[in-house]
Amino acid sequence: MDGSYTDNDLSKVIAADKANVWHHLVQHKPFETSDPRIIVEGKGMRVWDQNGKEFLDAVSGGVWTVNVGYGRAAIADAVRDQLMKLCYFAQTAGSIPGSQFAEKLISKMPGMTRVYYTNSGSEANEKAFKMIRQIAHKKNGGKKHKILYRDRDYHGSTLGSMSCGGQDERNAQYGPFAPGFVRFPHCMEYRKEELGLGHLSGKDFGIAAANLIEDVILKEGPETVGALCFEPITAGGGVIEAPEGYWPRVAEICEKYDILLHIDEVVCGVGRTGEWFGYQHYGIKPDFVTMAKGVASGYAAIACLVTTEEVFDHFKDDASDPMSYFRDISTFGGCTAGPAAALANMQIIEDESLLENCKEMGARMNANLHALMEKHSVIGDVRGKGLFQGCELVADRETKEPVAEADAQKVVAECAAQGVIIGVTNRSIPGRNNTLCFSPALIATADDIDQITNAVDVALTKVFG
Ligand SMILES: Cc1ncc(COP(=O)(O)O)c(C=O)c1O
Repeated sequence: MDGSYTDNDLSKVIAADKANVWHHLVQHKPFETSDPRIIVEGKGMRVWDQNGKEFLDAVSGGVWTVNVGYGRAAIADAVRDQLMKLCYFAQTAGSIPGSQFAEKLISKMPGMTRVYYTNSGSEANEKAFKMIRQIAHKKNGGKKHKILYRDRDYHGSTLGSMSCGGQDERNAQYGPFAPGFVRFPHCMEYRKEELGLGHLSGKDFGIAAANLIEDVILKEGPETVGALCFEPITAGGGVIEAPEGYWPRVAEICEKYDILLHIDEVVCGVGRTGEWFGYQHYGIKPDFVTMAKGVASGYAAIACLVTTEEVFDHFKDDASDPMSYFRDISTFGGCTAGPAAALANMQIIEDESLLENCKEMGARMNANLHALMEKHSVIGDVRGKGLFQGCELVADRETKEPVAEADAQKVVAECAAQGVIIGVTNRSIPGRNNTLCFSPALIATADDIDQITNAVDVALTKVFG
């Protein structure tokens, strides 16, 4: 870091923030007597706050976003050059980076062909929901319109995406929600007793957990169910990977009842788990894939909804019908900075072999966390794939009673005091906000990983003894 900002007086910035900025997901009362954290600069894996304090960022910008790390001149230059050439035109027309990134993205997604640009994960999911509804209208008068979603999964902050949201604490006080969204149970083996499946394990459990989805479909009536919506690995709901046997059974169920499959890759997409997309670990063939955070690593706001040609064909089969195409627009889907940044971002991942690094460093982090589990009985479970890891904290390993939320937050604070920013599930599942979250940039080195898990070791000792 060049340290230039340390010469500047940021007191006015802090005062303006306290007077006028409304931060996300934050209770502001404490800022009457303390200052909010202001992140001033970032380079590689590290960021600096208003006091010049350096942090190793183990959560890629807080929410699984800055996958290639901070300060990438190649992305900044690509965005600058594109903005000077053409900053924007509505996506009713095409653009050079829009075409180029779509082609490159599709080359990483066999079976998919069409990219619809938008600017947030929530919005990309909304577009998918609208397509599912419109396909239902076109095929059978709207009957097959229901979208089923999984307990503990999250799909965004808009009312539509919250209607599809499996996190009751996120949803509380914001209802009523849109009709036609129906929940099915989670598939978390660590808490299988909640599902009445405590007697099963491994593949048997995975198949039984997927069968719970079929139960919901049969209850609702298969002729009313248009799509199933999943995160490939549940993120903010606790870093939950589906067990063996689950995805093949989901595929059978979709086939059997003619149900479309929507995979929300907003967190897992573009390398986070060591493959380009999370679903690619499991042999899944989705009809819709949504992505946002890591698409351009936060250098520009871009999200994509990607579909198969079969889905696309539904919207061009009758050109004489003025209502038959997808009558939707996203104003900022036409910002060219997004695909320009996304192209440069993908190039970096390829040039620096970051998928391979993600797998290797993810395995190291997982091993380190398992080693901590030997030492700290408060760690009940370690889960994840690639550089997407979680660690569930419990007061008692036998009963799996979660630790107090305040204690999980203390672990985060103790890590920050050591200069390491980690995450914790936050206001998601009532009584279950007890999973520490780790998602360092895909450029993490072995030393970075060890620094993160060493900080967690020290923090757990301080908080729990
Ligand atoms: C899995 C998942 N889907 C969708 C979203 C919503 O994305 P955005 O905040 O860009 O609207 C998020 C955000 O955290 C997410 O984790």
